[in-house]
Amino acid sequence: MSVITTDQRLALADLKAGKIVAIPTETVYGLAADAYCESAIRQVFAVKGRPVDHPLIMHVSANWDLTTWVTFVPTNAKILIKAFWPGPLTLILDLKPNAISPLVTGGQTTIAIRAPAHVAAQALLNGLGRPLVAPSANPFGKISPTTALHVQTGFPTEDFLILDGGRCDVGIESTIVRVTEQGYKILRAGTITIDAIAACLNSPLLQNTANLRVPGKLEQHYQPIKPLWYTMDVANIIPYANQLGKKPYVLTFSAFESMGWPCYRLPQTVNEAAYELYYQLRVADDSAQDCIIIELPPNHPQWEAIAERIMKAGRKLQG
Ligand code: TXA
Ligand code: MG
Repeated sequence: MSVITTDQRLALADLKAGKIVAIPTETVYGLAADAYCESAIRQVFAVKGRPVDHPLIMHVSANWDLTTWVTFVPTNAKILIKAFWPGPLTLILDLKPNAISPLVTGGQTTIAIRAPAHVAAQALLNGLGRPLVAPSANPFGKISPTTALHVQTGFPTEDFLILDGGRCDVGIESTIVRVTEQGYKILRAGTITIDAIAACLNSPLLQNTANLRVPGKLEQHYQPIKPLWYTMDVANIIPYANQLGKKPYVLTFSAFESMGWPCYRLPQTVNEAAYELYYQLRVADDSAQDCIIIELPPNHPQWEAIAERIMKAGRKLQG
């Protein structure tokens, strides 16, 4: 079984030796490999059970010169980097030919790059002096981990090192944005919202993006083990749980009179709710109940990141 440690030197030694290491970031834990070590990158795909055409995010230090890997850094990207790096924002930029193994990019002509804000991740990057590729450290399609223990329970038969950096501050994956000189497009919602990005950029939304890969468009993703249903209206919960003949673990944003079922009221702000979402879904998954029912957040653009993840985690409660 994997070993959890707080010793960064052990983690750095393994990365230098071409091994994979689970590392903390401010968003979720990542399963990291030296971006210049193809055998380690292959191991990441194999351990996660991830299709090889599903490209990885390359993690860098915020002050590294990105032109090592990209053809150029558009002004819009420079503005976003200044505003949000290090932090939970991934930029999709044009790849410099042959700058990195095609295993990282899935052979695409763009590359996803972010500078994590977690001090342990930064120390590893600076210690290695090279970027780290790191998808979320969960088996493909399952809920991303926000603690070292979550990583360990996700891979019970693997034996890579897990660097414990505490519970992740953000709690859901980074916002992904395609950014060019002409404009920008959000490919995955996160806690850095489209409004926050629009407020920085004096540029339009990109229109002609037909050739852009959109992450996580698989219908189901972020899945707990127990069946999960979501609903817009808490009034549906009791009648439909009874109709299903199920004893649910209930997560809501609004007030809810539980029928004696365990219930967790999620916080009322996006950042606090993001911090709790995956963590509380795991608590629900580990409970003795036989399913999870969750209320969707308010129907407002700033809640998109949370709503999107809930909808990919399950099915709509018919009602
Ligand atoms: O917060 C995060 O972003 C975490 C932490 C560990 O950094 N990482 C993460 O990685 O969520 P992952 O692999 O679970 O999700 C990365 C997403 C994938 O859906 C992938 O398709 C997309 O990024 N992606 C990677 N390269 C891309 C590219 N060139 N164009 C479009 N999407 C890309
Ligand atoms: Mg993931």
